[in-house]
Amino acid sequence: QNSLNSQLQGLYTQAQVLYTHILLKTKVGEPALAYLQNRELAAEVIDEFSLGFAPNQGNVLLDYFTSHQVARELLVRSGLFVQTNDGRLIDRFRNRVMFPITNQNGQVIAFSGRILTASENEPKYLNSPETQLFQKRETLYHFSQAKQSIRESKTAILFEGFMDVISAYKAGVTNGVASMGTSLTSQQLYLLSRAAQKLIVCYDGDEPGQKATAEALKLLKNESFEVGIISLPDKQDPDEFVKAHGAAAFQKQLSQNVLTPIAFQLQHLRSDYNLNLDGDRLAYVQAALQDIVTIDSSVEQELYLQQVANETQLDLTALKNEFETARVKYA
Ligand code: GTP
Ligand code: MN
Ligand code: MN
Ligand code: MN
Ligand code: MN
Repeated sequence: QNSLNSQLQGLYTQAQVLYTHILLKTKVGEPALAYLQNRELAAEVIDEFSLGFAPNQGNVLLDYFTSHQVARELLVRSGLFVQTNDGRLIDRFRNRVMFPITNQNGQVIAFSGRILTASENEPKYLNSPETQLFQKRETLYHFSQAKQSIRESKTAILFEGFMDVISAYKAGVTNGVASMGTSLTSQQLYLLSRAAQKLIVCYDGDEPGQKATAEALKLLKNESFEVGIISLPDKQDPDEFVKAHGAAAFQKQLSQNVLTPIAFQLQHLRSDYNLNLDGDRLAYVQAALQDIVTIDSSVEQELYLQQVANETQLDLTALKNEFETARVKYA
């Protein structure tokens, strides 16, 4: 079992070295390198994330491993290949920029590959299948490399996408990680809890990102992290924000635009209502009060009650009466 694991792990490392070589040193890699340059990734960043390229033509991985006498059984188990109907193996990843995914020790255990140009027939990102080395629920992108920075700042920043982690790094933010394109899990939070006291959720500013933030907050309620939320403007994701506004503006978001969970919830809630309509205003007030009753500190409760009163232009005293009713009902 152990030697099988280390053999599989060895294949992944060799695959990463090969993909990186193809990206940086070969003619077939040129379109991918141009793609990454267009996304403003410098050589130093490509190197830090060990990015690579899986070409469209041929079966580079299969040829490489076959010439090194790797057993077919091991190749099948690796998940790096797919079997055709007639039982042949072919490379799984084609025409994709390759993002290696590492375990806690920094060893490559999987890949995610991004297609160069959008296509209706293929997913934008293709992940390795889960293997005995790779479980999505227990993996955080870039965690092993970010751990030191997370320890020093006692803070981890959680992003939605691989490119967001990379753009943040480019902007000098080195304590970023991402879940594997799926919702956050308690196993991932356990990993983070050993290095971080504070967690900043910085998902995409679009509606799916904001929904995912709300879901992450539910999970975080059962944890002891101090939690902050960044809600980026204009539906941008961190990568787009850095590209549009620069590193300094992004760092400013992280230091000065951090919302408490309640402030985020109220903001997200508000976006579902049209406060110009009486019915919506009343519905918003009821929903907001349900959130506010869960706050422990009465000073904080007062703060958000005042905010809701301002937003809805309702009388604060009336709102407080309603709050007392809500307290009995929901507490
Ligand atoms: P870019 O277009 O490269 O900037 O990607 P993104 O990170 O902005 O992608 P998006 O916000 O659409 O999705 C966030 C994350 O979800 C990605 O980083 C992937 O991990 C994952 N994801 C997105 N699309 C797919 C897909 O088609 N298949 C799978 N398995 N995961 C995906
Ligand atoms: Mn998204
Ligand atoms: Mn995105
Ligand atoms: Mn993006
Ligand atoms: Mn919503």
